[in-house]
Amino acid sequence: MRKKVMAANWKMYKTPDQSRDFFRDFLPLVAGHTRDEIVVCPSFLNIPAALDAAKGSNVAIGAQNVHWKEEGAFTGETSVGQLLAWGVNNVIIGHSERRQYFGETDDTVNLRLKTALEAGFTPICCVGEVLEEREAGMTDDILRRQCVRAFHAISAKKAAKLVVAYEPVWAIGTGKTATPEIAAEAHAVIRKEATEIFGEDFANQLRILYGGSVKPDNVSSLMAQEEIDGALVGGASLDPKSFTAIVKY
Ligand code: PGA
Repeated sequence: MRKKVMAANWKMYKTPDQSRDFFRDFLPLVAGHTRDEIVVCPSFLNIPAALDAAKGSNVAIGAQNVHWKEEGAFTGETSVGQLLAWGVNNVIIGHSERRQYFGETDDTVNLRLKTALEAGFTPICCVGEVLEEREAGMTDDILRRQCVRAFHAISAKKAAKLVVAYEPVWAIGTGKTATPEIAAEAHAVIRKEATEIFGEDFANQLRILYGGSVKPDNVSSLMAQEEIDGALVGGASLDPKSFTAIVKY
């Protein structure tokens, strides 16, 4: 049995005060919930407030990106050391918004992933096709390519903590969720690719999350799929009640 990960991606929302308010309301609602791992990824500036508010709870804090170099002249970037100094060792890598708007490529995803794994992080590596690729019947090829390149030159041993998120770009923030069957099919493609790259034992343990318009009313049917090992939630994670309903589906 793979323990599910229910992760919140807050993107560029909330101030430190709003982050604190969220945890004030959210923590009592999920207190004692151990069935799933819960991770909240605020933007960098909210991380200290979130860590403080979530201290001693069953909720881990993660970042939304990390650079591959230890340090250097990389304006606007954040290093693994800077995150570790705050005690943060969860990170989202290769989110489609990074790929779409900020020039993230399969190669930079690979670099970030290698560094994060090397530093002992639990990375959530995002893959997913855009609408035109799905309509052209290219989904499986795209997912395979993204996995091959993201996992390039990473050993199964090094990748032990890897988590993958399948996030079809056409489902993110659009209210259009992949049906549980569509998601499960894509997860199976990713798991098969992981089998080829890392071996069967690794792939059987690998948690693959689904992301893209996960809401309280569709989460149960998604999580009922054996292939789906959790959720990466954007919009519906901003409200404590709604994220609680998702976590406790
Ligand atoms: P959404 O975002 O839940 O708002 O669709 C998911 C994500 O981008 O991780």
